[in-house]
Amino acid sequence: MPTPALSLQHVSEFAADVRESLTKPGQRELPSKYLYDEVGSALFEAICVLPEYGLTRADTRLLKEYSAEIVGRLPSPLRVAELGSGSGKKTRWILEALSRRQITYYYPIEISPHALAALEKELAQIDMVSVVGYEQPYLEGLRSVAEGRGDRDHVLVLFLGSTIGNFDREAGDLFLRDVRATLRPGDALLLGTDLEKAVELQLLAYDDPAGVTAAFNLNVLARINRELGADFDLASFRHEARWNYADRRIEMHLRSTCRQSACIPAANLRIVLNEDETIWTESSHKYKAEEIPEMAERAGFRCDAQWIDEEWPFAQNLLLAE
Ligand code: AVJ
Repeated sequence: MPTPALSLQHVSEFAADVRESLTKPGQRELPSKYLYDEVGSALFEAICVLPEYGLTRADTRLLKEYSAEIVGRLPSPLRVAELGSGSGKKTRWILEALSRRQITYYYPIEISPHALAALEKELAQIDMVSVVGYEQPYLEGLRSVAEGRGDRDHVLVLFLGSTIGNFDREAGDLFLRDVRATLRPGDALLLGTDLEKAVELQLLAYDDPAGVTAAFNLNVLARINRELGADFDLASFRHEARWNYADRRIEMHLRSTCRQSACIPAANLRIVLNEDETIWTESSHKYKAEEIPEMAERAGFRCDAQWIDEEWPFAQNLLLAE
């Protein structure tokens, strides 16, 4: 399949974001959402099956084991909206459990058209499930779903895989409040959160010996080369995962191994990186189980139930809008 032409708007937004984040005074950054182009999404799928990265398996195990119990706590009738659904493999368990009691309307909200197409293929086959994808930012998509529902319908929002961990704690609070604002009392949010564990385990999960995570991280520079005509020399960067003790998060960085420059023509930008200077590409915040009900309360939800995986500490949290 040929790569679809990139729209002008897509290129100019990407260029503006790259320019702003790479020229931040102090620490240079790149927004983590740009890790997920078609190559990046494929590399992330590979990360999910690495023995060192237990997160996705824990998430899936909980949904598989407790889907009937989760669904039993949900109001009815119900429409399901998922934020950033990826491949949809874990969502299947919830949709199957729901479709045993009602026709299920499922609205995946996803900015990647590749991911949306794969998802429709995977989930539209389940009996009694109707899939309508929204290629929109999370909150916009959610607003469309919430506004389009019938008077009696409730909404269940799925935000799985600890994607919330990409936000700073403060931004996470704000995001939950924005989600709450699209909902009505009694609506639900199923939130997946990766829990804190031994630092060595967390570091290995984000710096696997086979180098899959390194490739995932470096790909963001390759993508800037491909889409913005830049000339980053990928061999002169090293993947780095750090545990930030104060903020309780993994940070991924790309460390420049020498003093070097890079041109990014579409962003009208040339940068000079010092030896050992880093570009910060992603944060994955980790949580304590007790922290989630407090986050919920601050955003106008009540934490109705929590299911925790023992093998890889991870929590599914069922939050109900108050
Ligand atoms: C998809 C954001 C949940 O933070 O664990 C995995 C992304 N980055 N390995 C995570 C990721 C490096 C992942 N999230």
